[in-house]
Amino acid sequence: MSETVEIFEVGPRDGLQNEKRPIPLNEKIALVDCLSRAGFKRIEVASFVSPKWVPQMADSAEVLAGIERVEGVRYAALTPNLRGFEDALAAQANEVAIFGSASEGFSKANINATIAESLERFAPVMDAAKEAGIRVRGYVSCVTDCPYDGKVAPGQVAWLAEKLLAMGCYEISLGDTIGQGTPESVDAMLAAVSGVVPVTQLAGHYHDTAGRALDNIEVSLMRGLRVFDAAVGGLGGCPYAPGAAGNVATEAVHDRLDALGYMTGLERKVLADAADLARAMRAG
Ligand code: HMG
Ligand code: MG
Repeated sequence: MSETVEIFEVGPRDGLQNEKRPIPLNEKIALVDCLSRAGFKRIEVASFVSPKWVPQMADSAEVLAGIERVEGVRYAALTPNLRGFEDALAAQANEVAIFGSASEGFSKANINATIAESLERFAPVMDAAKEAGIRVRGYVSCVTDCPYDGKVAPGQVAWLAEKLLAMGCYEISLGDTIGQGTPESVDAMLAAVSGVVPVTQLAGHYHDTAGRALDNIEVSLMRGLRVFDAAVGGLGGCPYAPGAAGNVATEAVHDRLDALGYMTGLERKVLADAADLARAMRAG
């Protein structure tokens, strides 16, 4: 039997957060409901951040309240601080994520904190999550390149990934936030990170700005990673990462994995429907 690779769908969060048009709540809910039928185990649907920083995510609680929850699917939310965590808990997110950066420039621009300050803010989130029995994922952004600081040293990524693991994150998602990673730089980064975090607890989160995300996924597969984040329709970007185009498209990742002989457990037809919905939201 062929091996399984999980795609973690992040379209409703990472995909939509950067869209300029305020997307109506019912469209967001329809996208999540469609994705819930595709066979994902985890879908990131919300972000409890400042609405002044990311207005598109301001109705995250309403999204979580309005979706039809499918058994076996975990609905995830970003939580940068304790306030975000409490809001996510009240909205019944099934799991949350803290998000830090391997580079100082992006950390300041994205969450208004140095890397050291961000870890201080994450500590109470980890405590509260433990208390509530909620799993926490940890993102490391700018794993190869930063829009402000340039090249990022693999050792710096490994340092932060190890810290997030030690704080209790169950999985570390490695973000090529601006999609400038190459198979060589991603491989060098993974060599460093996999020295301190087991590959079974790593995920690849690659943006496709330069069209290399699928190649970077292949390199990561060779390093033993079996979880990849993607967004249907290739939506996405980060408001604080200038030039960061879409996340790698879920349907493209599915097709590449399929061609390589891996199973994703996803319904290709439903993915195509969700990608149509996502693209219509961008155009609308
Ligand atoms: P700050 O200004 O340093 O924090 O922002 P603050 O505590 O001084 O609060 C400022 C204001 O935000 C206050 O409101 C707070 O009440 C409010 P005001 O008094 O001005 O009216 N506030 C909140 N509101 C709602 N929910 C909260 C919350 N916390 C404070 N949880 C903060 C710090 C982190 C809040 C801010 O910088 C922020 O919201 N940043 C979010 C940035 C973001 O969402 N970026 C995109 C996601 S990351 C990403 O896309 C990368 C990723 O995909 C991986 C990859 O690709 O690499 C994950
Ligand atoms: Mg991202």
